[in-house]
Amino acid sequence: MLSADRRVILQLEGVSKVYGSGELAVTALREATFRVYGGEIVAVMGPSGSGKTTLLTIAGALLRPTKGRVTICGVDVTAMNESHLAAIRRERIGFVYQSFNLLEALTALENVRVVLQNNRTNGKAPALERARDILEVFGLGHRINSLPKKMSDGEKQRVAIARALAKDPELILADEPTANLDAKRGHEVMDLLRQKALELRKAVVVVSHDNRIREFAQRIVWLEDGRLHEDSATPLV
Ligand SMILES: Nc1ncnc2c1ncn2[C@@H]1O[C@H](COP(=O)(O)OP(=O)(O)OP(=O)(O)O)[C@@H](O)[C@H]1O
Ligand SMILES: [Mg+2]
Repeated sequence: MLSADRRVILQLEGVSKVYGSGELAVTALREATFRVYGGEIVAVMGPSGSGKTTLLTIAGALLRPTKGRVTICGVDVTAMNESHLAAIRRERIGFVYQSFNLLEALTALENVRVVLQNNRTNGKAPALERARDILEVFGLGHRINSLPKKMSDGEKQRVAIARALAKDPELILADEPTANLDAKRGHEVMDLLRQKALELRKAVVVVSHDNRIREFAQRIVWLEDGRLHEDSATPLV
């Protein structure tokens, strides 16, 4: 198997997040420090409320930390303005969500193509062709003209993963990608994500409270009450 390379794709240094203030303040992350390298799949595990989504949302430059520093592909995004952050998200990060987040009025092909418009295509084929190719790779060649409501949940999540990878981002962030899938579909989807991510040398962070996610990751990071620790010997769930 290919191993991780030396490119640091994501770096969190002493990141804390406090929601609200005063008596209502909730500390969701406490001084979290971690790195993800290119070609590496990291699972972030921990019980409900431990801060997994908060961590991923900060890593995706969708939420600012209260304290600490976030670097994506060598760029410090901590104090970046919103338009620069939007560009980083668009060009560097592919997001995969529990609920797929496909546009219901668009076909599978259009759902993927939409993220390729106004986006660098790295000198590769035009958007439509690229969208079709990646859907083929994900075994959805026969589904390109289907609307999400006509697809199974497993197919929908494969479209969502194809969409995340289509723009060729360095970093893939997935929040509970198998939570709405049965065991078999969940396994298939994770297997595909893992295979493609390794092949394309992507850095992947998958957040889940599901123990089965472990088998797809090269490294496990645990979160407990906002504290991060890399100790695969400590099962929390
Ligand atoms: N927008 C918010 N405002 C206030 N508190 C929040 C907000 N979002 C999350 N929290 C709190 O922060 C803590 C961490 O939440 P987070 O969603 O990151 O946990 P999680 O590990 O993703 O949980 P789950 O497994 O249930 O998805 C929880 O105590 C939660 O209630
Ligand atoms: Mg969550």
